[in-house]
Amino acid sequence: MIPDQVPKEDVFHGSDDLKKEAHISSFEKYKELYTKSVVNPDDFWGDIAKDFFWKTKHKGQFLQYNFDVTRGKIFIKCMEGASTNICYNLLDRNVHERNLGDKVAFYWEGNEPGDELKVTYRELLHRVCQFANVLKSQGVKKGDRVSIYMPMVVELVVAMLACARIGAVHSIVFAGFSAESLCERIMDSQCSLLITADGFYRGDKLISLKLLADEALQKCREKGFPVEKCIVLKHLSKETEDTPLGSQSPPAKRSCPDLQQEKQTGRIKKTHPVPQVPWNPEVDLCWHALLRGASNDCDPVWCESEDPLFILYTSGSTGKPKGVLHTISGYMLYTAATFKFVFDYQPDDIYWCTADIGWITGHSYITYGPLAYGATSVLFEGLPTYPDVSRMWEIVDKYHVTKFYTAPTAIRLLMKYGSEPVQKYKRDSLKILGTVGEPINPEAWHWYYSVVGEKRCPIVDTFWQTENGGHMLTPLPAATPMKPGSATFPFFGVVPAILNESGEELEGPSEGYLVFKQAWPGMMRTVYGNYSRFETTYFKKFPGYYVTGDGCRRDKDGYYWITGRIDDMLNVSGHLLSTAEVESALVEHEAIAEAAVVGRPHPVKGESLYCFVTLRDGATYNQTLEAELKKQVREKIGAIATPDYIQNAPGLPKTRSGKIMRRVLRKIACNERDLGDTSTLADSSVVEQLFQNRCFTTV
Ligand code: PRX
Repeated sequence: MIPDQVPKEDVFHGSDDLKKEAHISSFEKYKELYTKSVVNPDDFWGDIAKDFFWKTKHKGQFLQYNFDVTRGKIFIKCMEGASTNICYNLLDRNVHERNLGDKVAFYWEGNEPGDELKVTYRELLHRVCQFANVLKSQGVKKGDRVSIYMPMVVELVVAMLACARIGAVHSIVFAGFSAESLCERIMDSQCSLLITADGFYRGDKLISLKLLADEALQKCREKGFPVEKCIVLKHLSKETEDTPLGSQSPPAKRSCPDLQQEKQTGRIKKTHPVPQVPWNPEVDLCWHALLRGASNDCDPVWCESEDPLFILYTSGSTGKPKGVLHTISGYMLYTAATFKFVFDYQPDDIYWCTADIGWITGHSYITYGPLAYGATSVLFEGLPTYPDVSRMWEIVDKYHVTKFYTAPTAIRLLMKYGSEPVQKYKRDSLKILGTVGEPINPEAWHWYYSVVGEKRCPIVDTFWQTENGGHMLTPLPAATPMKPGSATFPFFGVVPAILNESGEELEGPSEGYLVFKQAWPGMMRTVYGNYSRFETTYFKKFPGYYVTGDGCRRDKDGYYWITGRIDDMLNVSGHLLSTAEVESALVEHEAIAEAAVVGRPHPVKGESLYCFVTLRDGATYNQTLEAELKKQVREKIGAIATPDYIQNAPGLPKTRSGKIMRRVLRKIACNERDLGDTSTLADSSVVEQLFQNRCFTTV
């Protein structure tokens, strides 16, 4: 499957300097280790496991699985019988065994330039232990689910690792999601506690997170699922400012030195107003007040390899989000190994992943992977365009970032402003660039490579999914010749295949369904609370394979090229959205009888949302309705799902059996008249009508 010869033309290679220090310095070495990793995965992963601490050793086979529904239940187990604690491995081991206590774990860079903090491994360990004690004092136990709805602050990492330390399961909800989405996720995973913050700024825009959290908890209450406790971090307001919390604070015992400092200075420059935070003394607890009474000693809870680590929701084609469940040992090994090889991690690196921790990229490549090897990272709260479009490069120079990982949508956005804002900064520390989330178009690839990396830095185009835990198809920076737009070859232990509609494996150059044939340690174990959905979504269509839901092409040199989703999912700015979820938000409006949503290509976001709506009798289509529909979707799902186009569609193209023909709607959205085979269309006149009334401008 991996070619003997690498192609000679149209490819880009990592520099010789990079090869000198690289873990994998040539394509030959990649091939050799790849072959070993798939022929004998137990040995390969066993070697990675030697880098970590195991309280008890595993018994039997390292990786066990069944992908074939015809043979029984689907399962994946890694290091069964072993016990460990992931927080211990990320923090205590680095502080106590590897002497990295004084090494910076995170440089936090706030939304406003000048807002900054640094946290060493020792400080992070202390903070996590303190907060783990807080969680215990609030009755959180091993196996309990804790919902986290926070901005990009160090305390978000503290909260997730504190959960991991005591064996609780975190369920992080991206802080851009709406109150309704938060409520749905809290209820689905039955969280006993919510952790949030007063608010944060995205550029100039205030996000009053606590108000949204309150609304979500109110909805939970109304639906019969009261959450008794909500811990609130005062991120925008100074901890010392008078609030109704003061009276609750227990007397100080021990506290972390830099917390003291932070308390006096406040970390946010007061260039913006601070929101008033409503306080419900029956439910709300102040993060800082609770910490003042907490010890920074906390023994880790030793967990089984297959105990759950976290739940993270991802869009599902039925519209209801799926709670992807990851377990401890396999996820730790997989994020650590991919981090080490794909970013060719070296101890003096300053690494920066611009994702939000609320998505899987942030879980795996801000928190777990980098901390596993004791890396120093930048944790950025802000936006690439605030206060101006040079912000990213300013930060690269400020911290001397060596490895930089971002999304194609961010690259396309910055590309619009040309090279001048980039070239204002030196960027000479950069060695490796990465992308994730969607296919990168060759134009953006070349701009990233030539302007940002000055043709010096290889680009790792990493294909993977929330369900995968870590990189699946990716170049290795010093080894793999890159082709712009291709995620190239599989990571160690990953065996991809391309299937046709009948489930036959295609050889050589071909195009079809991308599947994986063998288990890898980082893969999801189930959909939380819904095993049958797990089985149906990923394993029923082609028994014996994990089905990604992506289309893929393999070229004559064996390179893999992702062609996009082949289910009813859209990828907007690197985030998956289900058309069904947006449709159901639209039809909840009293004026709407039916809705159909399709993707329309967008120069920056990749895809934009084009919505067709059919009105109920008596309703009128006008700008007020449009604004209400937009608002409705934002409130139900979140700002990322805001419709770009809404078209009044008195009729929708349907098959004779009543199924909406999305293929035809996609053509209408793009104004492409070549509709292909329309023989199954029940009433072809609606199509012409829709073409006539197309939307040309965004709503
Ligand atoms: O369609 C693929 C696309 O993003 C989907 C996974 O989305 P999510 O679970 O939200 O995780 C995103 C971050 C890992 C995939 O099914 N995708 C992700 N990375 C790439 C990609 N498509 C092409 N190239 C990529 N590098």
